[in-house]
Amino acid sequence: MPQVTYIEHDGTEHPIEVEEGLSVMRGAVDNGLPGIDGDCGGECACATCHVFVDEAWLAKTGLPGEQEASMLSFAATAQPNSRLSCQIVMTPALDGLVVRMPEAQH
Ligand code: FES
Repeated sequence: MPQVTYIEHDGTEHPIEVEEGLSVMRGAVDNGLPGIDGDCGGECACATCHVFVDEAWLAKTGLPGEQEASMLSFAATAQPNSRLSCQIVMTPALDGLVVRMPEAQH
């Protein structure tokens, strides 16, 4: 199974295996990680799954879609590498992905 390393705002790392086809948000929520709530269940409608994608992985995760970019525009801490983790679906190519959670989400 591909692995994602989730890093909390305080630097705590959580390496988690996330099944292919599941979202990065689902991997965090199903494992009870702090920092990703996923309040809307992955409908791209809440932005409580906001993460910063490690720069080395940006080319593989791609850019936000139109609706996602619109939601991110409401996130006070959004940066160029921001994504909604419910919109990143795990594939073998994302094995080793690193994401960081914003300080506001904990
Ligand atoms: S879970 Fe709500 S926008 Fe991602």
